[in-house]
Amino acid sequence: MTNPITTGASSLLVVSDVSKMFETDSGAFCACRGLSFVVHAGETVAIVGETGCGKSTTLAMVLGLQTPSTGTVRVLGLDPFARFDALRGRVGIVFQNDRLLPWRTALENVAFGLEILHLPKEERHRRALAWLERVGLAQFVNSYPHQLSGGMRQRVSIARTFAIEPPLLLADEAFSALDELTAASLRRDLLGLIEETNKTTLFITHSVPEAASLAGRVLVLGRPGHVVHEIDVARMLAEGRSRHDAENEVRLGLQLARDAYDGSGDFSAAGRTPMRSASMNAGG
Ligand SMILES: Nc1ncnc2c1ncn2[C@@H]1O[C@H](COP(=O)(O)OP(=O)(O)OP(=O)(O)O)[C@@H](O)[C@H]1O
Ligand SMILES: [Mg+2]
Repeated sequence: MTNPITTGASSLLVVSDVSKMFETDSGAFCACRGLSFVVHAGETVAIVGETGCGKSTTLAMVLGLQTPSTGTVRVLGLDPFARFDALRGRVGIVFQNDRLLPWRTALENVAFGLEILHLPKEERHRRALAWLERVGLAQFVNSYPHQLSGGMRQRVSIARTFAIEPPLLLADEAFSALDELTAASLRRDLLGLIEETNKTTLFITHSVPEAASLAGRVLVLGRPGHVVHEIDVARMLAEGRSRHDAENEVRLGLQLARDAYDGSGDFSAAGRTPMRSASMNAGG
């Protein structure tokens, strides 16, 4: 039997006609409906959309923290909810909050993330050190999180995620808790790392400039979570258009999503679906 993880199929992530219902006191709430998209190997894809349109819910289903009510999600060919353990270490995530362990140094935090790979201790430390150097924190390997700025902590978090060398990288509002200057510098560095490692990346952002400057393709989500508009930034650039043009396209897409939403259809009858505790994935 072929192993879907190692076949090198070009679609690392496939989301097919997914809906997601949540049980609430007011009835079943529809967070996603008719959500379909694909992320191919080597692509950097951004998801943008108004608050509450289902972006984090989408990521939770990709991470295997939640399961779709209908439709399918496949990560490296596997169902991420059913094969959560098999995908550990193969999907990296950077959250808005760095989620570092406060009692561990920067080096120990990055090395801790590597424990899931069962590497020898020396190799974990060697790799952790190399990645901290790459994100510009060579002087701070022995600092504890409380001794670092928010931007530095997020760099440690990025180092921890990249050190695992996951085939797929996810980020949810990775820079939105930082001031604009720090965010801009981290964005540049993250783009450098993504390009250097040719990392397949799916990230969520509220920032239109961030989407247009980092992504090769931008998906605009409307409520309940579905793709309303898709901007092929890479093609626009190849055709001689600018990132600024791409930004305008994204803004147009967001306007289309707003116009298309009539405020109805979020609530409807549906069964409960299983959920997994987010803390199970806090390691990386
Ligand atoms: N566990 C849950 N139970 C009930 N409703 C939920 C649950 N999780 C999310 N929702 C609802 O689903 C919708 C989508 O939520 P989600 O967090 O995915 O939005 P988002 O696009 O990430 O928003 P934001 O930009 O504010 O982060 C929201 O209306 C939210 O209230
Ligand atoms: Mg969110």
